[in-house]
Amino acid sequence: MKQTPVIPLKWENETLILIDQRKLPLIEEYVHVTNIEQAFDAINVMVVRGAPLIGFSALYGMCLWVKNHPNFNLEELKKAGAYLNEARPTAVNLGYEIKRVIELAESYYNEKKSFDGFYKKLQDFSAKQIEDIYEHNLHMAKLAEKELEERVGPGPYRLITLCNTGFLACGPLGTALGVITYLHSKGKIEHVYASETRPYLQGGRLTAYELSKSNIPHSIVVEGAHSYLLRSGLVQGAFIGADRIVKNGDTANKIGSSTLAIVCKHYDVPFYVVAPSSSFDLEAETGNDIHIELRPEEEILYCAEKRIAPKESKAWNPSFDVTEASLIEATFCEKGKIKPVNKDELIKVLEK
Ligand code: MRU
Repeated sequence: MKQTPVIPLKWENETLILIDQRKLPLIEEYVHVTNIEQAFDAINVMVVRGAPLIGFSALYGMCLWVKNHPNFNLEELKKAGAYLNEARPTAVNLGYEIKRVIELAESYYNEKKSFDGFYKKLQDFSAKQIEDIYEHNLHMAKLAEKELEERVGPGPYRLITLCNTGFLACGPLGTALGVITYLHSKGKIEHVYASETRPYLQGGRLTAYELSKSNIPHSIVVEGAHSYLLRSGLVQGAFIGADRIVKNGDTANKIGSSTLAIVCKHYDVPFYVVAPSSSFDLEAETGNDIHIELRPEEEILYCAEKRIAPKESKAWNPSFDVTEASLIEATFCEKGKIKPVNKDELIKVLEK
């Protein structure tokens, strides 16, 4: 993986090594994953998170399964993929990468009539996906730069982002945070507001960690501050990532994204989505088709392992929401800019 301030995912000595994102920013500790069950757990409990990184972890989870089952057949490989795909439901990158592993295995077998050498092939394939992502993220950042210049002016800009879309979640540079990091490298960032992202604090812990590592001036804000922040004229644009973008452009992202989009619409602040084409799901027509993950209520009832709510209280913890396409000014992927965000434009760009 291209050099980042810390390396969130490594494949070394046939082991998947992941920084434990649950412990950041206070502790930088790595978890070693040597089989598919451990890969499942790492994704499920959010040692690793963020749609693209979940996808890359799935690739190496499948590598580990292949390594540990040298005499496998295609049916068994598919079963292993189906198992891993259950680790988390909303980020489509998980299923997308597993599907590509199965397709790769099918074509490999058709050509060689055996799976000899497939383990090496799969490792090379996985490394290549991660290598390519930097160029993709950089391209999206440049598209966003041009759009901002046309819509808002030459900068420097005051921007808001939500959840975490930097190198921890998306590979080198990142998606929404990649735009911000790239603009910063060109002297075009005045200030960034990192939305705290309740309940798991990916913004307050992880985005702020990445912004700090890159020396980008920033403040953490709670989700409840969005309306007042925008009313105060402190923000000129919002950038978020995506866990699943469906055919009509509706976008699932971390809970709170759609509220921010509605507030942006109210105050005429452009709201942008930045995500690789692996985050698009063209089998789903609208946001109503997206499975929203409900996570354990403990994530709300406890803070740093200490209960903060009365013991009688319950919590409801949807991890994502759906932002309707009509609220999104433009969506950027490595294939181009989708604007306006609707089914025809989306398909036109994706089929490039
Ligand atoms: O639940 P998470 O932390 O895996 O959530 C994913 C996210 O970080 C966001 O929703 C993000 O904006 C899109 S994935 C980079």
